[in-house]
Amino acid sequence: MRLSAFGQKFTARSGILALMDDLGRALTGSEKKYMLGGGNPARISEVAKLWREQMERILSEDDRFEQMVSNYDPPQGNPAFINALAELFRREYGWDIGPGNIAVTNGSQTSFFMLFNMLGGRQNDGSRRRILLPIVPEYIGYADQTLDAEDFVSAQPRIELIGEHRFKYRVDFAELQLGEDLAAICVSRPTNPTGNVLTDEEVYHLDEIAREHDVPLILDNAYGVPFPGMIFAPATPIWNENIILAMSLSKIGLPSVRTGIIVAREEIIAALCSCNAILSLANAGVGQQLVTPLIESGEILRISSEIVRPFYESKSARALQCIDDEFGDDLAYAVHLSEGSLFLWVWFRNISITTMELYERCKARNTIVVPGRYFFFGLEEDWPHRDQCIRINYGMPDEDVRRGIRVIAEEARKAVIP
Ligand SMILES: Cc1ncc(COP(=O)(O)O)c(C=O)c1O
Repeated sequence: MRLSAFGQKFTARSGILALMDDLGRALTGSEKKYMLGGGNPARISEVAKLWREQMERILSEDDRFEQMVSNYDPPQGNPAFINALAELFRREYGWDIGPGNIAVTNGSQTSFFMLFNMLGGRQNDGSRRRILLPIVPEYIGYADQTLDAEDFVSAQPRIELIGEHRFKYRVDFAELQLGEDLAAICVSRPTNPTGNVLTDEEVYHLDEIAREHDVPLILDNAYGVPFPGMIFAPATPIWNENIILAMSLSKIGLPSVRTGIIVAREEIIAALCSCNAILSLANAGVGQQLVTPLIESGEILRISSEIVRPFYESKSARALQCIDDEFGDDLAYAVHLSEGSLFLWVWFRNISITTMELYERCKARNTIVVPGRYFFFGLEEDWPHRDQCIRINYGMPDEDVRRGIRVIAEEARKAVIP
């Protein structure tokens, strides 16, 4: 097979692809596994029941199911879904938007592919422009999406230590590379993998910088407010004409319906629709139809704040407690403040092995985590910190999380620098 440059880039064995394969293999076999590695949301029974009821309603109405599965929507998305969203955002947050400010995609992963490659990369005049990640570690799913790896540039954060065993990353505004080649600034809030939630002030400041450079700020709201609402720190839903807000139905319990939502100014939405028509023709419609009545009634906000948020917040607190109980004082560990998402990010400050090695040792004991180094792409310099961290998904049943954390503690303790 002779591959083009595009073919080679997108078929290369990216680190994360190799790791995901490895995880898949690790999960086969009959022994019990403690899967604290992937990004799957938890199944919350109350929410799962709601989606089932919505599907039953569709099935019970004459011709509704057939309409849902037998028609292509326009590339922008289902008009009823888009109108309901625009109305919700106008009503609840006073955003000055209409249907022309919203586009649907086949999952936000696809949104990012289109956005990064529409804005960054080679320009018509031959120059290149880059996407700035103002803080890494950042979502691994962005890493291989640009046509050229050089199309990302990122910045190390400032580390704020909080007590003996907690810390928080802050945007180091002095370190941002704001060259002529800036195409967009992009950040996830809450952040995968750390659970960090950028403060409103940090977001406004990034927006100001983006405006000064005449580029958009892409805010990845996959876990954020108003839905799915996996956010435990004060955070205002923020949007304006310079912000491209990326949302998703995945983390509210519907990852397989592949529905991403973009809120942006009209010219960006029009560009995305053109791109989406070429890539996908139309979007998956089932998720949009399941969720539209809950958006129209505003019920989605209640589900997010009264069911989803407390569910993850209490799971996070239990997982943190478990880490503090199991890790003890001989491990110089620090956990990033858990402000949202479904991950804990643990920093080992006194172990003699890399967290890639720690991952291998945990895997040999049927416990799967994700080693930190994959989340530090776009950095020009080496940073030892990236081999000192792991990501833990605490969405699994509590007992699995507890057992997995015990194995991590035992393996890390064996590697403590004497
Ligand atoms: C921060 C972040 N953004 C985007 C995505 C992609 O989500 P989806 O394509 O399912 O909408 C994920 C998935 O885990 C994520 O963690």
